[in-house]
Amino acid sequence: MCGITGCVLKEGPAAPLIHESLKRLEYRGYDSCGEATVDGGRLYIKKDRGTIDEVHRRLNLDDLPGRLGIGHTRWATHGAPTRVNAHPHVDCDMQIAVVHNGIIENFAELRMELEELGHKFRSKTDTEVVPHLVEEYMRNGMDFVDACREAIKRLRGSYALAILHAGESRIVCARRESPLVLGVGEDGVYFASDIPAFLPYTNRVVFIEDGEMVVVTEEGYEIRRISDWTPIERRPQLIEWSVEMAERRGYPHFMLKEIHEQPACLRNTLRLREEYLELMTKFLDRAEELFLVACGTSYHACLAASYLFSKLACKSSHPVIASEFIQNYGRALGIGSTILAVSQSGETADTLSAVAYARDKAATILGITNVVGSTLTRLARVYICQQSGPEIGVAATKTYTSQLSVLTQLAIRLGMVRGKIGHVEGEELVDWLWRIPGKVEEVLASQEGRVMELARKYAGSERFLFFGGGINLATAMEGRLKLLEISYIPSLAYARVEDYLLGFVDGATTAVFVCPNTNSGKRLIDDMTLIRDYGVSILALVEEGDDEVHEVADEVIELPHMPLEELTPIPYIVPLQLLAYYISVERGLNPDKPRNLAKSVTVK
Ligand code: F6R
Repeated sequence: MCGITGCVLKEGPAAPLIHESLKRLEYRGYDSCGEATVDGGRLYIKKDRGTIDEVHRRLNLDDLPGRLGIGHTRWATHGAPTRVNAHPHVDCDMQIAVVHNGIIENFAELRMELEELGHKFRSKTDTEVVPHLVEEYMRNGMDFVDACREAIKRLRGSYALAILHAGESRIVCARRESPLVLGVGEDGVYFASDIPAFLPYTNRVVFIEDGEMVVVTEEGYEIRRISDWTPIERRPQLIEWSVEMAERRGYPHFMLKEIHEQPACLRNTLRLREEYLELMTKFLDRAEELFLVACGTSYHACLAASYLFSKLACKSSHPVIASEFIQNYGRALGIGSTILAVSQSGETADTLSAVAYARDKAATILGITNVVGSTLTRLARVYICQQSGPEIGVAATKTYTSQLSVLTQLAIRLGMVRGKIGHVEGEELVDWLWRIPGKVEEVLASQEGRVMELARKYAGSERFLFFGGGINLATAMEGRLKLLEISYIPSLAYARVEDYLLGFVDGATTAVFVCPNTNSGKRLIDDMTLIRDYGVSILALVEEGDDEVHEVADEVIELPHMPLEELTPIPYIVPLQLLAYYISVERGLNPDKPRNLAKSVTVK
């Protein structure tokens, strides 16, 4: 996730406003940033790695001349956070500057085509193909706007784009899957990835839709559908949010906003670069002995991965909580050991200690993280960035489902490489993975109200038990962690109802069963009946239409059909994240700021 912004003003310098707007978008990314403006037929650019404040201290982002400009704050996904990879990116002649949020899937083939035509690239980013494409179409005689349109038509993937030309007093923006909004003010027109960027200047907002391009001038804006160039009339609407509320896009807490961001984050994980997935799969395949090492939520992703690797690829692995690793597995490590460390921050002290120790023992280190440039990316032989964008809520939500998606993709590839999954089956599984973001959207749309009701009903429970069999032991454990961490209600998680639990439960206990329509799910029905006899309230996550569970449970939350148990953890965790969130709110707590917890545990 990155943030883009910019404006065309009637008077006065644009750069200080763009700088302020970038500050308000910093929650979308902060490893590098940049601005470009146009004045007197010339393009001016400043950009560097570092936070906006650091870059401003070094370069002064406010003194670029001109009434129009664009800005970008980055969260690296393609290419390390360096000056050269920071946005804006330019064409060969430094006439065109582009900022971009999203992932251009076909950038490699476009880059090759453009290089053959003589274009010189400076960065490793996918974005840089855009200014060169526009340049190419302009070289062939098109005007700026037509060239932008033709260039955009060539892009596959997701984008919110803003394109500036040295000889123009207008800016072209376009959107596909990444957010883009206009702000229409008295003194000019603004645009950004998100409303807070320009909210102090105007609250008259126009939302740009997928497949649309906008030409922004000081007087106004013209929206057209890219495919057939139909003009689109859309009037500004008034937004009554405060800047603070707008940063959470109207959600009362970052946690809820991030729960709702999951479909978009999951789509991002499906656009990972082939070569990284391939390379990581190769290392996983070759591993004589494979450890999956992480803490907290990331450990639950590892636990799920051990089932995925085993069931889809017949590859056994050991999921280990990082703080337990050195003491218990250290002596066994050697050149044949491979450690796949999973850490959204890439900075968790226990995970890094385990990795450093294993590296000293000549083990191969692989990493999955959300932060390019984090210590884990520097220690790992190969790493994959899970592309979730910054997560502000302390309780991990979107980063968990993104990790699951990356790990499922790796398991499918591993299964194919090892001859355990045939081509047709592999393609079907990948096809299902692409449907998961839509399924999560369905769950959010259809079940959130229901979960709120249940949260009201069960917020007073004295204890919770979570049960999930097979791969959904990870779901049960993660559901329990979410609830415990933001509601402080004593909770336990198990695969099955153990006899000794029966002495501990009563009418003040709520048991949550993760029961997809699979063997492991069905096995829990007897357990439900058993524990219900002790007065426990039963809440079950079931596949829609599964009447068998309905008969036993007090309450059900319905989830869409998934063809395979291994694909259920992503949709099934979503209601449990919502349940934890709404119970925390019901109990008058702040889910974004759990007691005594920091987002990143960088000390042991
Ligand atoms: C739970 C949570 C923590 C982290 C854990 C690992 O909601 O946020 O338990 O999952 O501290 O963090 P990373 O993934 O950054 O290594």
